[in-house]
Amino acid sequence: MDPMLNIAIRAARAAGDLIVRYVDRVDTLKISPKSRNDFVSEVDRQAEQEILQILRKAYPGHVFLGEESGWQGGVGNEYVWVIDPLDGTTNFLHGFPQFAVSIALLYRGVPEAGVIYDPMRQDLFTAKRGGGATLNNRRIRVTKLNGLTGALLGTGIPFKDQTHLDAYLGMLKALIRDTAGIRRAGSAALDLAYVAAGRLDGFWELGLQKWDIAAGVLLIKEAGGIVTDLAGGDGYMESGNVLTASPRLHECMLEAIRPHLTEALRGRPG
Ligand code: IPD
Ligand code: CA
Ligand code: CA
Repeated sequence: MDPMLNIAIRAARAAGDLIVRYVDRVDTLKISPKSRNDFVSEVDRQAEQEILQILRKAYPGHVFLGEESGWQGGVGNEYVWVIDPLDGTTNFLHGFPQFAVSIALLYRGVPEAGVIYDPMRQDLFTAKRGGGATLNNRRIRVTKLNGLTGALLGTGIPFKDQTHLDAYLGMLKALIRDTAGIRRAGSAALDLAYVAAGRLDGFWELGLQKWDIAAGVLLIKEAGGIVTDLAGGDGYMESGNVLTASPRLHECMLEAIRPHLTEALRGRPG
């Protein structure tokens, strides 16, 4: 096993164990608002510290970008760890058991290794660039649908920034029409891992952050899927607008949402 991936797995499991210890004690936690509809608990912060401690000990010269503590470490180092210690905080705080730890390692900006860990189901998703993607040590692949018929899609309904709500609702309507169903499970990292594992056929969401998607994007690519922004371009890490599926379904999804894209969502100034 790749040593960097191994360290990432150790860190994700440690954070997951910590999160699970709090699952039945959510009502005792200190919770602070970060912005509208966006909360952070002491569990998010402690889980991030746990991850940072393990990664830093192994790679003291690397750079770290954590959702809760921002940028830290090694100026000029080309290895950057991107960490979401608890993806799905709203679910966690409601006792809705769908959340995960997400850790990615980028080298010169390109995802090299990724781990997403669901501590409730003990599902461990891993990927190494060029080495494939796995769920609990078994190789995973995206599904092979030719079109929207029968597809189960995941999405994220905008709940913080609602600038693009009307455009989003147009896309939702267009995709509802032909698919088998649409799920809003509340953890973008797990949604992406589910696409990689074939549990979902496709996924789209607007306005995600690097720590929500870095590990999931590598998982999907290593599982044979396509990841783009909403217009089919590769600016999703910057815009946070993501559309992903197996190659043919991805084309169909792009086509279905195209009439609903505003200039801003096409990646051009509006
Ligand atoms: C959130 C989840 C959610 C997505 C939000 C994210 P957080 O992450 O991934 O599914 O819709 O946009 O912010 O805040 O729970 O780490
Ligand atoms: Ca997140
Ligand atoms: Ca988070």
